[in-house]
Order: sequence, then C-alpha cells, then structure tokens
Amino acid sequence: MTANAIFDRRLREREGVLLEALTGLYGASSDLSKIQARLIGAARKAYEARSPELLELDLKRETQDIDWFQSEKMAGYMGYVDRFADDFDGVKDKIGYLKNLGITYLHLLSVLRARDGDSDGGFAVTDYLSTNAALGNMDGLEDLARQLRANSISLCLDFALNHTAQEHDWAQRAITGDPHYRDFYFLFDGRAEPDRYERTLEDVFPATAPGNFTRVGDTDTWAWTTFYPYQWDLNYHNPDVLISMIEVLLELANRGVEVFRLDATIYLWKEMGTNCRNLPQVHDLLRVFKAVTSLAAPGTLLKAEAVSSARHLTGYLGNKQQRECDLAYHTGLMTALWDSLATADTTHMSAMMRSLPRKPEHTSWVYYVRCHDDIGWDVLKDSEETKWGATTGHLASLSHFYDGSVTGSFARGRSFQATEGKTVGGTNGTLASLAGLEQALDEHDQEAIKLAIKRILLLHAVIAGLDGMPLIYMGDELAALNDYDYLQHAGFSDGRWLHRGKILWDSGLLPHDLITARQTVFSGIRQLLQRRAELPVLNAENRMTILDTSERPLFAYLRQSDNNLLLCVANFSAKPLFLKKNCFAEYLSGQAMDVCPIGNEDQAIHQLGPYECRWLMPMGDNYSVS
Ligand code: GLC
Repeated sequence: MTANAIFDRRLREREGVLLEALTGLYGASSDLSKIQARLIGAARKAYEARSPELLELDLKRETQDIDWFQSEKMAGYMGYVDRFADDFDGVKDKIGYLKNLGITYLHLLSVLRARDGDSDGGFAVTDYLSTNAALGNMDGLEDLARQLRANSISLCLDFALNHTAQEHDWAQRAITGDPHYRDFYFLFDGRAEPDRYERTLEDVFPATAPGNFTRVGDTDTWAWTTFYPYQWDLNYHNPDVLISMIEVLLELANRGVEVFRLDATIYLWKEMGTNCRNLPQVHDLLRVFKAVTSLAAPGTLLKAEAVSSARHLTGYLGNKQQRECDLAYHTGLMTALWDSLATADTTHMSAMMRSLPRKPEHTSWVYYVRCHDDIGWDVLKDSEETKWGATTGHLASLSHFYDGSVTGSFARGRSFQATEGKTVGGTNGTLASLAGLEQALDEHDQEAIKLAIKRILLLHAVIAGLDGMPLIYMGDELAALNDYDYLQHAGFSDGRWLHRGKILWDSGLLPHDLITARQTVFSGIRQLLQRRAELPVLNAENRMTILDTSERPLFAYLRQSDNNLLLCVANFSAKPLFLKKNCFAEYLSGQAMDVCPIGNEDQAIHQLGPYECRWLMPMGDNYSVS
C-alpha cells in the first residue's frame, strides 16, 4: 500500500467517529466541515513528516501488535528527569538500571518548557515545542526517545492540555488585546460571570489557590484558572484551540513520544451551572484527540489522568465504537489501597472495584501506588452514594492516620490542601514514609522495619496482578523517604515536593538499616515484575473478578484466560490469615472464600502472613510475591 493509501484507509475508518465527536462539541454548525478538514489536514501533514522508523512502528502496532501495551511484560516507571537523573543524558545512562528492574515504559515529568519559579511541577507550560533547557534540547529528547525505544522502553510525556502558563505566547497576546488569542482562554470583563460560575464550582487547591478566577494584572479582566493563578484554562469551545493543541501533540509524537499523559482531563469543558467536571463534551474532545492521533500516528497511546470519583473512570476508556484514551490511571484503586492499609479492611476497595463497569476491549488501566501528586481522599466519595462511597468522616480519619496524628499510626505524611471544617484534602509523603519505614528506622525497631517493607511489597504485588500496567514512582523501588528539605529550593513551595526528592544513587552514607531496606525492596519489586512477565494470564485483556471474602483484611481477585487461572490473595493486616484447603476450588464454583479462624491452623493450606500477598495457580505453581 502506498503512503497515501494507508492514510486514506485510516481516514475512511475514522471519519465518521470524528464527525460525530465534533458535532457533539460544536453542534451541526456550517463550520463543522471546515474544522474537520483542518484537523485532517494537520494529521496528513504530521503523517507525511513522520520518520520511517515511527511509520514502521505504527504499522506494526496497527496490524499485528494491537495490544502491545496490554502485555504482562509491560511495567512502567515515572519520575522527574532532574530528580531521577539530572538531564536527558543522565536518563540515557539509567536505561540499564530500568531494564534490570523490568521496565518497558517510562513517564518523564517536567520536560517541556515551563515558566520560571513556581510552575506547578512543570504543569505551567510556556512552550510545548521546547524543552526545559536545563535538561537538554528537543533533539536531545528525540534521541532519548530513540534510545529508549531501541531498548524496548516507550517514552511517555505529560500533555498539559487544560491550561497553559500565563507566560505562554498565546496568553501574552491575549493580554495585549489580540482578539484571536483572547478567545483561546476564558477572559471575563468584571466579576459578574465568574461569580455566577463560582456558584457551582469547587476548588482544586482550596488552601493555596482558592477560587477559580484570577485578575489579570491590575485590570478588571478575570482569567479562568482552575489550578494556580498562573495556569490559564484553555477554551475548547473555540475550535482553534483544539486544532492548535492537536498540532502540538502530533509534533511531539513525531519526536518519538509514544504515550501522552493527558493532564487534568476532567476539567476540559465548562458549562454554566455545572461543576465543570467530567462533562460529556470532555469525552467528545478526547474522541477527537484519539481519532486524529490515530490517523497520523496510530502507534501512539493516550492516557487519561482523571482525578475524580472512581465511578467516572471507565468512561475515559471510551467504548468499542468511540475510542478515547487507551490507558487511564486507576485513581480509585490507588486511593482505596491506602484506605485498606490504614484500616486493615478491604471492603471499600472490593466494593468499589466490583461496582465499576468492565473496561472496554483493547484498553488498559494504569495501576499505581504513589505518584508525584498527593493521595486525594475525595475520589473515594461517590456522589451517587453507591455502596462503596466513603463518608467525609472516614476520609478525614484517613488523612489523620497518614499525617501521623492518630495514635498507633505507622505513617509519616503531611496533609495537603485541607481547609478547616470544609475539605479533607489529600496526603503527601513517599511510599516508604507512609508505609511506616521512616518511623521504624527512627525508632530502630527491627520488627516495624520488616512490616513496613512488607507493606511496600504488598501494595506492589496487588497492582502487578490486576488488569493493567503497574507503574512505579521514582524512588519507591529504593524505599525513598520524605524529602524535608524541599522548601529550600526555589519554585518548590508546593507541599507535594515532600515526595519528589532527588534519588540518592549513592547509598554509602545512609544508615545500615536503610541500605538493607533499599536492597530488599528493590529486589522484591524486581522479582515481582519478572514473575509477572512470565505469566500471560496477567495480560490486561484477560478477565478479572474481584472476589467476596469473609475476612475484612483479605483482598482477593481472580485472573482468567482461556487456558489459565491465577488467584491473588492479599492480607492487608498485621495478623496472619489462614486460607482453607479447598479455597481455590470454592472460588471456581463461584462461592465466597472462607478463611480459617486462628486456632484451626491445621486445616489451612495457605497461611498468609502479615501483609503477605500470594499468587496462586491451579497446578501448584504458587508464588509468594510479598
Ligand atoms: C495534574 C498533575 C498535577 C497538576 C495538575 C494541574 O493533576 O498531576 O501535578 O498540579 O494536573 O496541571
């Protein structure tokens, strides 16, 4: 097939979906065909500029290797370039380290040029087609992407599409009164409209950036700023914005970015009288992004970051006819893991997971334990009050547990964006500090150190068996502790820098117990990913069933392919659990699992130690994975 014929074939396949999504956004206006033609033109231009290597990758993924990202061999790692390895060259030097750990996907943060000083960790972009100069230039990024690909690692970058920095050229032109660019943002003369919107909006950063609108200089013009005052929301009601952002994304794809993490997706569309979150048009927008991307660069994936009640999550994976994102963070499971760990009770987690619709074919969840953001407790609330919704009181108790203010808590975190009597906010802190390692080391308590390590491995073992890709946050594989010095750095005023410390590669000066903990955690996670990669039943396309268990600390799920089964059982408490001899058979006949009461241990076949997780296979091929 000639290049033109390939593009035309793709166009025939996607044209209908594209038009439908555009109609959802802009109505059947007479301009619709013009908008569509411009998007197709942008895709064709990007397609024609794509390198032979990337064209070949596209064809392979489009025809033989459609589900490449669902493989059991996929394992992700995420981190800030500078905190992980100084710059792009430093990341190249760490490719061997990542491969040794079992990584096939690397999400690098804060890569594109952002404003000076506070930049919300790089999410206030001033130029999407330049890099942060301290890391290297665009050619350096392209070269890094190529080297990663040669080592079977796909590069993922953030695409902050909800807002630009106020210093972005578009915003600067808007400030000078250019009507074309004024319409790129939501700019209001006077407070009347902002006040009307505010009636139904909530705040994302209520403690440090209350309100959703910011005065522009000393004028009476107000810009919509959902996040920090220097992040101006883009106006997707204007098709020029959509087209411009897609053009940028396609250029980055041609530089070798294989996965785009679509930042803050839930906020992309605004309507008066709503909370401007998860509106149906957001899904139309994502359909347009998907359709156009897959015309020009079908080997490229879109990943949704949708921090919202878990009930909304599956929607971001689209459906068979209307593809949206290929991947989505499972924010619900991540938060529920921490709930279960604090309370030794997995009922919320199981009920929430069971209540979600099954993800569509050819999509995958991204399961994670920690990331660069806080653990936002609100996602465990469910506005429709389904069975799994947690009360505000419960969320507040979790926040206190993890800031260490509850007696008996093992955690050393800090609360984030809580406002007295109003919002619970979230929790900051590294995995190791939240899981008890920091406190145990300070108290030289060997038993507590062991338990903390077990918690770290338990959480990873649970996510590595679910129907998606596990994603490891930088330093978690090395049991990194909180970085209390963050305030000494310019631009690090946000509390989330507590868990964004520079990786300490040289452990020479660390206390002996910490060195041992690092080694145990690293080899535990490495082994886990190796085992996962050997088990095709863990492919994300295979079925997953969350099981009913009669014991609150026990979380259990089944993975099933045509010819294999895997049962994951995980004990979220410090007390041992004993699984009955025939528990596996009971599962297969669909009954709930019983756990032997303590005292009847002789009946038990599988003892699950404190915070232990096992993957059980029918042929006695069983792994204790934490
Ligand atoms: C996403 C990012 C977060 C950032 C926000 C605004 O949620 O993960 O770090 O603050 O978007 O860009």
